[in-house]
Amino acid sequence: MYRTHTCGELNANHIGQNVTLSGWVQKIRDLGAVIFIDLRDRYGITQLSFNEENKNLLEDARKLGREFVIQAKGKVIERANKNKKIATGDIEILVDELKILNKAQTPPFTIEDDTDGGEELRMKYRYLDIRRNPVKNNLIFRSKVSQLVRNYLANEGFIDVETPYLIKSTPEGARDFVVPSRMHPGHFYALPQSPQTFKQLLMVGGIDKYMQIVKCFRDEDLRADRQPEFTQIDCEMSFIEQEDILQTFEGLTKHLLKEIHGIEIEKFPRMSYEEAMQRYGNDKPDIRFGMVFGDLTDAAKGKGFKVFDQQEAILGIAVPQAANYTRKQIDKITEWVKRPQIGAKGLVYVKYNEDGSFKSSVDKFYSPEDLAQWAEITNAKPGDLILVLSGALNQTRAQLSALRMEMAERLGLRKPDEFAPLWVVDFPLLEWDEESGRYHAMHHPFTAPKPEDAHLLDTSPGKVRANAYDLVLNGNEIGGGSIRIHDKTMQAKMLNLLGFSDEEAKKQFGFLMDAFEYGAPPHGGLAFGLDRLVAILGGQETIRDFIAFPKNNAGRDVMIEAPDTISPQQLEELHLRIVE
Ligand code: AMO
Repeated sequence: MYRTHTCGELNANHIGQNVTLSGWVQKIRDLGAVIFIDLRDRYGITQLSFNEENKNLLEDARKLGREFVIQAKGKVIERANKNKKIATGDIEILVDELKILNKAQTPPFTIEDDTDGGEELRMKYRYLDIRRNPVKNNLIFRSKVSQLVRNYLANEGFIDVETPYLIKSTPEGARDFVVPSRMHPGHFYALPQSPQTFKQLLMVGGIDKYMQIVKCFRDEDLRADRQPEFTQIDCEMSFIEQEDILQTFEGLTKHLLKEIHGIEIEKFPRMSYEEAMQRYGNDKPDIRFGMVFGDLTDAAKGKGFKVFDQQEAILGIAVPQAANYTRKQIDKITEWVKRPQIGAKGLVYVKYNEDGSFKSSVDKFYSPEDLAQWAEITNAKPGDLILVLSGALNQTRAQLSALRMEMAERLGLRKPDEFAPLWVVDFPLLEWDEESGRYHAMHHPFTAPKPEDAHLLDTSPGKVRANAYDLVLNGNEIGGGSIRIHDKTMQAKMLNLLGFSDEEAKKQFGFLMDAFEYGAPPHGGLAFGLDRLVAILGGQETIRDFIAFPKNNAGRDVMIEAPDTISPQQLEELHLRIVE
């Protein structure tokens, strides 16, 4: 038997018992006549002690190194210097038998909560990183969230069905990862960007309520909240309307917030896409703090300030309690908005001083009365700093939205232990893509237009709204879904609008449209990004920290060195040739 107890288990109640523990050597303190060793496993740390009464054993202990895997047998005794910080801090094990189960090289970074290892090094030795509490606890946390999700949805009658990974392209807006077929020269599988079409086919199959915690693959640029392979909580329901879906998944999210953080939120606010864009310049607003956009376009034009006069939009936010910012601080913010990633041409500021007076960068053009009007529009209070950007509407919204988040970050308003969920609803069905000169599906091509807007499909497709919705939590899109098309003619029309010829549509989605001819029920669903959900519930935003073996920023697994080349034989079998 390797162990009678774990390293996190023993306390004063066990004093006098003979026990066996196994684990990793965390720390060795050699005081000459006595040696203390911290023994670690997943459950905690227990102190082992060795003394001169058993000189051989003392010598053996001296030969151990950090991260050796050992087994120790001995008696639980009361500790002279108690450690209140750990659960086992009242006791130690007076060791009478020691066995090395495996030696270890000195690890390339310290296995401590605050490690000295850089990100890339820790990724290369991820198995060592996982031994550290912050990473280990994130994985335990993720497991807990998955379990809660599964149990909740099972209780709601959802059936867990696995869908295939070797499929053909399902467009979700990213590129596919493809897998060459050995048996079918020149043919490729695609890894699913999501199980979208399969879950719809499960509805045609009468499954009624489907769920799956499932890997999805998207070949897209990486960010803190994106990985090329990530996990969705994927769901679909039949004979439902949008309201049923929102209720079900609001229920799930409430359950998670309650179970994990003890937080109860009565009803999640809802906001239309249009309102979110107007108020926050963004379809995933962080509503934990204010700084709602004020539209200054009418108020600020026509006063002789040329820069503004030519612009489509002039938008401002009131940054709370920032009127006392120095010139230098404001210059820093100006530099920040001018960075290529943000791309603003400049920044106008108005200090709304505590005494009610105004001081702005455009005092030459605007009277105190004008600026008072700006303050009213941006909902500024004395002591606030109004920041104003201008330009084309969409661009200015995006820039001010980024600035709003940056200011919130700087002011500590994005509190990780505060949770502000909201539904963004009524997304447009289509979005115009300048580059390709055609419409793209805003959500995906299977999303149904709102029945009351369907008549606009032929005349002004850009105006059609969809029964599509996102769940936003603390400024992150954690889930999205829609009511689907379940009618072949409508699906064909939609694909045509997206630029598919009848032939292309049939080739790529014929299987789905055929299925719609055999009694497809009205249906809809949604998918949560599990990695994002877990990270945000854990008070963080980098999903990598909640994935056991993530890819780095370049999409590489630096531990196993993937992607990698394959042998000429493998290439040949797969009928592939590398073109230099
Ligand atoms: P969507 O594309 O919005 O919808 O994806 C659903 C959720 O998955 C998460 N997500 C990601 N997480 C990490 N890395 C990524 N690269 C990544 N991409 C997406 C987000 C997102 O909200 N089939 C539809 C769902 C449906 O209509 O039912 C879909 O996949 O949190």
